[in-house]
Amino acid sequence: MILQAWGIKKEYRRGNNTFLAVDDVSLAIAEGEMVCIAGPSGSGKSTLLNILAGLLSPSAGRISFAGQCYDSLGDEELCRLRASSLGYIMQGRSVLPNFTVLENVILPRSFFKHEDQTDAKAFPLLERLGISHLAAQYPSSLSGGELRRVSIARALLISPRLLIADEPTGDLDEENSAGIMRLLASIAQNGAAVLLASHDLSANACCHRTYGMKAGRLGSKPRF
Ligand SMILES: Nc1ncnc2c1ncn2[C@@H]1O[C@H](COP(=O)(O)OP(=O)(O)OP(=O)(O)O)[C@@H](O)[C@H]1O
Ligand SMILES: [Mg+2]
Repeated sequence: MILQAWGIKKEYRRGNNTFLAVDDVSLAIAEGEMVCIAGPSGSGKSTLLNILAGLLSPSAGRISFAGQCYDSLGDEELCRLRASSLGYIMQGRSVLPNFTVLENVILPRSFFKHEDQTDAKAFPLLERLGISHLAAQYPSSLSGGELRRVSIARALLISPRLLIADEPTGDLDEENSAGIMRLLASIAQNGAAVLLASHDLSANACCHRTYGMKAGRLGSKPRF
């Protein structure tokens, strides 16, 4: 299993009360698998994905990614692990408006000195995603589906072992949504684990497993 999580909880405060945005979630995903978490707005999907990606600390529970427990890693080690192996497509728009498509794709990698092949890697990726002709354009001239492909290209540049996609088709029409889902399925077929969150139950058509999430709880638990 590339990712395993046991008993994840996340408690938040609302006014004088606390509530569990994620309530005792256990999950495992293997490379080559595509898994969907489907649930209504506010059910805790993004909170869970952020925790699984190591971006947010859980209130309880344990996560192992690529054989390493997040608990056992310092901030820098965790950052390096994520940067080398985990692609994250955030919910909503995450491209930077003052950078071109190509710059948006390679920017995160340019922070790592050992990465000097980013342009050479980025172009074939843009071609694969059907947006290489837009490499020099700025995001304001792109459609929603094209912008989503830029986010996907950025997440794929490192050839991640795990790709997390939070509502990757959230604001797209049916045709663009189907294209993005086919793309994510092909990434899983090529050996990466793909974990996505969606409002949309139709997203699960391409997935090996789908979990319903409601009020912080996953509808069914996999057996480890
Ligand atoms: N930092 C925070 N502090 C307090 N409450 C929060 C915080 N972040 C999220 N929440 C609450 O936790 C719950 C889960 O939020 P989350 O963003 O995980 O839901 P979601 O399932 O991703 O929703 P959507 O489908 O709208 O993206 C919501 O009730 C939200 O208001
Ligand atoms: Mg969300």
